Amino acid sequence: MRKLLITALVAMTATSAFAEGVKKEDVVDARRAYYTLLGYDMGTLAAMAKGNVDYNADTAKAAAANMMTVANYNAAGLYVPGTSNADLPGKTRALPVIWEDMPGMQAKGKDFYQALVALNEAAGGGRPALGKAVMKLGGTCKACHSHYRAKDF
Ligand code: HEC
Repeated sequence: MRKLLITALVAMTATSAFAEGVKKEDVVDARRAYYTLLGYDMGTLAAMAKGNVDYNADTAKAAAANMMTVANYNAAGLYVPGTSNADLPGKTRALPVIWEDMPGMQAKGKDFYQALVALNEAAGGGRPALGKAVMKLGGTCKACHSHYRAKDF
C-alpha cells in the first residue's frame, strides 16, 4: 500500500517528460476521460449509498477497486503545461492555478487517495459504512474541484 501511495503522489510531478510531441487536445481528452472514469464508478457507489439502488457488496467492492486502479494511473502526462482553460477555452475546465500551485493540487490528490483507500476498506462492509466512506471521498473530489476546476467550460 505504501508503494501505491507514493506512485499516486508523484503522478502529477514529472510533467515535462511527457510534453514533447503530444497534441494538447489529446491531453485534454485523456484527462477528461480519466476523471469521467472516476465519476462513473463514484456514481455507482453514490447511488447505493443514497439507497437509490440496492446495496450489493460485490458491486461496491468492484467500483471502489476500479477507482483505485484509475488513481494508480500515472497522471503526469495529463498535466502537460499549456493545457489549461486559458490555453484551450471551451475544451477544458482545468484552471491555470494548477500549474502555478502543483504542490497544492497534489495535497488535494493525497487527501483523495487516502479517502479512496478507506473507501476500499469499507465498501464491502454494508451500506452505512459505504455511505460514510463515499461522503468522505466526495468531499475530497469537491475540495479539489472548488480550487482547480472551473464551474463551466
Ligand atoms: C486533485 C484534484 C482533483 C480531484 C481529487 C478530483 N478531481 Fe475531478 N477534476 C479535476 C480537474 C482539474 C478536472 C477538470 C479536467 C478538465 O476539464 O480538463 C476534473 C474533472 C472532473 C469531471 C468532469 C470530466 C469531464 O467530462 O470533463 C468529473 C466527472 C470528475 N472530475 C469527477 C471526480 C470525482 C468523482 C472525484 C472524486 C472521487 C474527483 N473528480 C476528484 C480535479 C480533481
